[in-house]
Amino acid sequence: MNNNKLIEWYLQNKRDLPWRKTKNPYKIWLSEIILQQTQVKQGLPYYQNFLTHYPDVQALAKAKEQEVLNLWQGLGYYSRARNLHYTAKDIVTHYKGTFPKTYKELLKLKGVGEYTAAAIASFCYNEPVAVLDGNVYRVLSRLFGIDTAINTTEGKKIFKQIAQKQLDKQQPGLYNQAIMEFGALHCKPARPKCKNCPLATDCLALQTGQTENLPVKVSKVNIKQRYLHYFLVEWQDHIILEKRENKDIWLNLFQLPLIETGSNNHISSKKLEKLFDKYNITPLKKPVIQETKLHKLTHQHLHITFWRLKSQKKPLQNVSKSTLKNYPLPIVIANFLDNYIL
Ligand code: ADE
Ligand code: SF4
Repeated sequence: MNNNKLIEWYLQNKRDLPWRKTKNPYKIWLSEIILQQTQVKQGLPYYQNFLTHYPDVQALAKAKEQEVLNLWQGLGYYSRARNLHYTAKDIVTHYKGTFPKTYKELLKLKGVGEYTAAAIASFCYNEPVAVLDGNVYRVLSRLFGIDTAINTTEGKKIFKQIAQKQLDKQQPGLYNQAIMEFGALHCKPARPKCKNCPLATDCLALQTGQTENLPVKVSKVNIKQRYLHYFLVEWQDHIILEKRENKDIWLNLFQLPLIETGSNNHISSKKLEKLFDKYNITPLKKPVIQETKLHKLTHQHLHITFWRLKSQKKPLQNVSKSTLKNYPLPIVIANFLDNYIL
């Protein structure tokens, strides 16, 4: 493959993105953690918002975790936000507020994996380490006609070798940006623009008619079904809200009182009474179903039922509706509350 053609394509077609105008490792790190989560278009406002609140790593280190989670709300994978905050504090405490400058050292940071370490090391310090993200896997698998599944140990090893061999060692930062952008805009998952491709003459997948079949991924279907019942309990202009503290999805986010049932999706009256006792709820009437929702996470499908009821007396854990925006909430709960009480 001809790297010059790729880089030339990049210089003519790249999007104008704020993190491409800086070599500040804090900003690059932040952008890459956000972009693992979401498309550029959706990620941009989060990036800007984080920088407004926390212009440097010191500011992020000083933040309250709850505020960081609140700014992250809607991006999903909240462990990434917790790691972001943890690592900011780590850098200030153990690295004198300065990011490490090598791939190897960067890898030691919590939440910084091979991809992010390679991105920071190459974009900021021009260290010749290849990035491997979904875009790069796709481009390389097609160019070289590789049908080893990318999500297997063997596949990862093969692609890592090819990516490193292919890397432009003179301008690794530019090359890494170029191949990712090429995957995002040109050699796209569906309908890649092969008719007008600067790399067409080098592309094995095109020559063998395999572009639509590459890259190969083995399906690891193991999606857990969970049945969650949330109770919107109103008392005057307050509702009950509690922090999730167990090692599970949504750690340290807030939620409504919850009953999780088995696959029969049935709440026993005993469980319901236990819930009422726990929060000192004195129901005016029986709870009614307000909404049901299927919320899909990567490894779990959440079958959510939202119930609603009023309490006669003041329950425990109540918060005023006017302060709800201060609490980081799973997006599915935030949307429900937006619809029904705000
Ligand atoms: N996706 C991941 N990293 C990116 C970057 N630096 N620019 C554009 N899209 C990206
Ligand atoms: Fe991708 Fe098609 Fe270009 Fe091959 S020819 S690199 S499949 S866009």
